[in-house]
Amino acid sequence: MSILIDHVSRRFETFAAVNDLSLEVAEGELLALLGPSGSGKTTLLRLIAGLDFPDAGRILIGGRDATHLSAGERRIGFVFQHYALFRHMTVRQNIDFGMRVMPAARRPAMAERRARVERLLATVQLDGLGDRFPAQLSGGQRQRVALARALAIEPCVLLLDEPFGALDAAVRRDLRRWLRQLHDELPVTTIFVTHDQEEALEVADRIVVMNAGRIEQSGTPVEVEAAPATAFMYGFLGGASRFDVTVAAGRVSLAGRPLPPEAVELTAGVADGPATGFVRAHEFRLLPAGDPASLLDARVSHVVTHGGTARVELALGAGRTIEAELPRAAWESLALAPGAPVGLRPERVAVFPPG
Ligand SMILES: Nc1ncnc2c1ncn2[C@@H]1O[C@H](COP(=O)(O)OP(=O)(O)O)[C@@H](O)[C@H]1O
Ligand SMILES: [Mg+2]
Repeated sequence: MSILIDHVSRRFETFAAVNDLSLEVAEGELLALLGPSGSGKTTLLRLIAGLDFPDAGRILIGGRDATHLSAGERRIGFVFQHYALFRHMTVRQNIDFGMRVMPAARRPAMAERRARVERLLATVQLDGLGDRFPAQLSGGQRQRVALARALAIEPCVLLLDEPFGALDAAVRRDLRRWLRQLHDELPVTTIFVTHDQEEALEVADRIVVMNAGRIEQSGTPVEVEAAPATAFMYGFLGGASRFDVTVAAGRVSLAGRPLPPEAVELTAGVADGPATGFVRAHEFRLLPAGDPASLLDARVSHVVTHGGTARVELALGAGRTIEAELPRAAWESLALAPGAPVGLRPERVAVFPPG
């Protein structure tokens, strides 16, 4: 089902954890919700689930106003990062739990409950483990049980709050591919909260980045990666270097040297005077020291080559280090050892008001 969040706020005392936020999630979409700790992601999910209620605004689920419906009336599946399974219940009993506590009128018959539990065990690839207790499972297996338990009520919306956050990297990678497949097979709208950008970019149709209770940017992973919309987004996506720049009559200078206009992207609201420029790691060109096209002088401090790319740490002086990323072949053709001087030319500088 589709979800419509319409100017929703949730305040704790005077502090707005969710601040006049609007968001539409299409039926069947898999949306990743990203943002720093404390930006309001969990609060937003709890409002959608009916575990908490907004102070202002409306929440529509499948076109129906759900703002005042209880959690039980919303048919929403929820998996938390540390959603402890019931330790004294077997895997089967855990998966059955959501159906068991349904109001009698909607609760499936015993035979259907049993059949559904068996189907879900197969879906989450835990056939044969139904009689185990949670303590006899690995972390990844436990989160799959939590997911099966959430799916047992046949939810139309699935909310996952950092479900793989506590697992190690290799298990997470397997589980997110599997989740993507599962989502594609089920008629469910999914919101997936994660700290991990790579995870969001890999799994989601669309990503939404929250900051201080609001949406900072929303778009497909490709759109967001190609064009971060705000200074916050450059900081959040990581790998970008921040520079103080100067704007005069629309021309931008970095360290006293004018930047070529084609390399500059001026955002709305930038006035003459001091401003902030961001250059992402792959947007630096490295040049032999003293090359006339160079705009910054640096020294190589450290290099990591991985697959086809080289990630180079560069010292700019005054203890400042920045990061550049370039094709391995381009790096090798420069033949630079750690400590060697090198020239830098930003090929794209996104300029924002100072701050
Ligand atoms: N029940 C609550 N009482 C008071 N403050 C809360 C409560 N729940 C969340 N907050 C505050 O709201 C903000 C957003 O929290 P949360 O939604 O958990 O963020 P996130 O999930 O993005 O880390 C935080 O500053 C948090 O301290
Ligand atoms: Mg949270």
